[in-house]
Amino acid sequence: MKRRLELLLPLLAACAHTAPPATTPNPPAVEISTPRRAWWKQVVVYQVYPRSFQDSDNNGVGDLRGIVSRLNYIKSLGVDVVWLNPVYQSPNDDNGYDISDYRAIMPEMGTMADFDSLLQGLHRRGIKLVMDLVVNHTSDEHPWFQQSRSSRTNPYRDFYHWWPAERGTPAKRWSFFDEEGSAWRYDSTTQAFYLHYFSRKQPDLKWENPRVRREVYDIMRFWFDKGVDGFRMDVIPFISKDTTFPPLPAAYHGDYVAYYAKGPKVHEYLQEMNREVLSKYDIMTVGEGGGVAVEDALKFVAEDRHELQTFFQFELVDHWGRRPGNWLYPDSSNRSLPALKGIFTKWDSVFATSGWGTVFLGNHDQSRMVSRYGNDTPRYRNASAKMLQTLLLTMRATPYIYDGDELGMANIRFTDIRDYRDLMTINYYNRLKREGGDLREFLAGQAELSRDNGRTPMQWSADSNAGFTAGVPWIRINPDYRMVNVAAEERDTGSVLHYFRRMIQLRKSEPLLVYGKYQLLDRENPEVFAYTRSLQGRTLMVALSFSAKGGMTALPAGYTSGKILINNLASSPLQGTRLELGAYQAVVLELTRD
Ligand code: NOJ
Repeated sequence: MKRRLELLLPLLAACAHTAPPATTPNPPAVEISTPRRAWWKQVVVYQVYPRSFQDSDNNGVGDLRGIVSRLNYIKSLGVDVVWLNPVYQSPNDDNGYDISDYRAIMPEMGTMADFDSLLQGLHRRGIKLVMDLVVNHTSDEHPWFQQSRSSRTNPYRDFYHWWPAERGTPAKRWSFFDEEGSAWRYDSTTQAFYLHYFSRKQPDLKWENPRVRREVYDIMRFWFDKGVDGFRMDVIPFISKDTTFPPLPAAYHGDYVAYYAKGPKVHEYLQEMNREVLSKYDIMTVGEGGGVAVEDALKFVAEDRHELQTFFQFELVDHWGRRPGNWLYPDSSNRSLPALKGIFTKWDSVFATSGWGTVFLGNHDQSRMVSRYGNDTPRYRNASAKMLQTLLLTMRATPYIYDGDELGMANIRFTDIRDYRDLMTINYYNRLKREGGDLREFLAGQAELSRDNGRTPMQWSADSNAGFTAGVPWIRINPDYRMVNVAAEERDTGSVLHYFRRMIQLRKSEPLLVYGKYQLLDRENPEVFAYTRSLQGRTLMVALSFSAKGGMTALPAGYTSGKILINNLASSPLQGTRLELGAYQAVVLELTRD
């Protein structure tokens, strides 16, 4: 199906849109600072990790037909967009983030016909589909790389970054996943090193070559012409490199990630991509913005730059509870609510007049949000998961909810390296073992932070394997599935799942929660995160207790009462103009002045 914007325009005039209101002109009397409206600002995105969502053929791996069988559930949540992690042909060194054919579906996930029925099934239900675009690197099994590595004169040689060995060892580049830590890998066939910021099986494409860029744009058109509604762009700030590969400049103080995100031509390439492809379709874009500093944010997303619409910033997830400078190890002392508020507030202000933000607390690269930011003990899991959902759905940014977080799924906390499937954990473990490091300390840290915590299968029911598969699951299922699962939560109106649906309905019924001005209250309060959202004379207050001790705060000056719109606990926290919040209580109030 052709969906280029120019073809769509007459259609849009003729028929009603099934999705949220499409780009609408600015309404008249809106506060000056109110951002321009757009459908992709109003949506709630649900991330589906396909390997772990639903297995339909009992090989232990989730697949496309499995997702199709769960479309009514997804619809019932009230979400508008599904973001699907990669399902393309891949040897799965990094669970699909190593692509060997961008126009094919990996057999474990099904066929292109299955993909088409997923897309149609979503569209029939008024839900859009965002795919992952992984073009900083390919798999080493991609035909381009196979050609490229075969000889120095192959026409594809220049699709990747090569450093001939006769020039000596190239300047250090750090790799996220490599067992030796180096992003340069020697290849004896042509006696040269190739660059791979991620694993050895993920060589970096050379965007400086215009043929590479043309290929990428063609791939994007292929999927847009099929009807997909957008891309989440994997590590997109990393695509441009200084191809002289100098030593890391001292100004970066050893921070390779920040350096990778500041390639000399990243904006030139994104503008070209926008001109050639993105601007021609009515779609949404979100870049994975690792390494992008707050002062560079608008370069990627300000409207007049014509690059991306939004990106994910990682300041919160990179720091909260992690050891400074080394995010493989936890540090529970490195958690302060005022610091967390500061991060949200700072990023809100960046997009106050231009661009647009996103908000997330979990994804396939993070441990579970309730375990990390809330409290997953039986007593507090329910309240704290709801509290975090309230935060995600009341921010001025497009919210992304990771599958399972609508249930309050928690970390599995593996203790045995043999349970892990993530190459990042396994490769660091092997390296540490070789170097005689402290393996117990490492495993204790991974139990809290490993990406596999977020990748255990979706918990559908109390049946065997949580209803995920009748085979052997590719990764162990969290044993708490007997309590925490969709079927049980459907039956219980007080469940995290029921609250999630109500919270989504609240966001959807209140454009104020999308566009309204955000103002932080009670900045230094160590237990309560409180803020207001206001638009056109109305003000809502959100108060969130991040503590098992509850917390106190007050209505902002000038307001005398508040009407509770949603509350995750049975009791009202309002005592006159004071709020006495219970453990992990979350409320949204409409404020009045009398
Ligand atoms: C970010 C993805 O989210 C992650 O899962 C992947 O390992 C790396 N990029 C490399 O593609």
